Amino acid sequence: MIQLIELTVNGERHDLVVEPRRTLVDVLRHDLGLTGTHVGCEHGVCGACTVLVDGAPVRACLVFAVQCEKTDIRTVESLADADGTLSDLQQSFADHHGLQCGFCTPGMLMLAEGFLAEEPDATKEEIRDVVAANLCRCTGYQTIVEAVDACARRRRAARQEVLGRSAS
Ligand code: FES
Ligand code: FES
Repeated sequence: MIQLIELTVNGERHDLVVEPRRTLVDVLRHDLGLTGTHVGCEHGVCGACTVLVDGAPVRACLVFAVQCEKTDIRTVESLADADGTLSDLQQSFADHHGLQCGFCTPGMLMLAEGFLAEEPDATKEEIRDVVAANLCRCTGYQTIVEAVDACARRRRAARQEVLGRSAS
């Protein structure tokens, strides 16, 4: 059996014909060519496949693409600008050596992006708890925590500056 579905990924609408059992990560990588999302364990443990669905981090190997109709899906490809300029979060990972082999990085970035959108005032300890949900075999996590925390601090400072300007 096959099914016609409509998926919105990184702001672009796609009509796709898929089997109902096809996972979101397979559709993203194989049907849409968005190979930035990685596949590790394929059973919900490693988090390498994390994407945002309606802003919330989701393990794309654990959901079927058909379940994601009428949602807004974001993959790691949505972070950088069209000219390749890294997002503030990506730049922070680069600045703080938050990656080594890079296999876990797309999942870590999307996990952190979703978390900081939800919890912009997160403490370093809260960030540590959240990134522990995804597996990284290289970094020892400390540099990832530093990267996410530095990005959160910069965003808070920018927010304060805007608030300060609008109050004056
Ligand atoms: S590949 Fe999805 S959680 Fe590991
Ligand atoms: S940087 Fe290699 S698995 Fe995280």
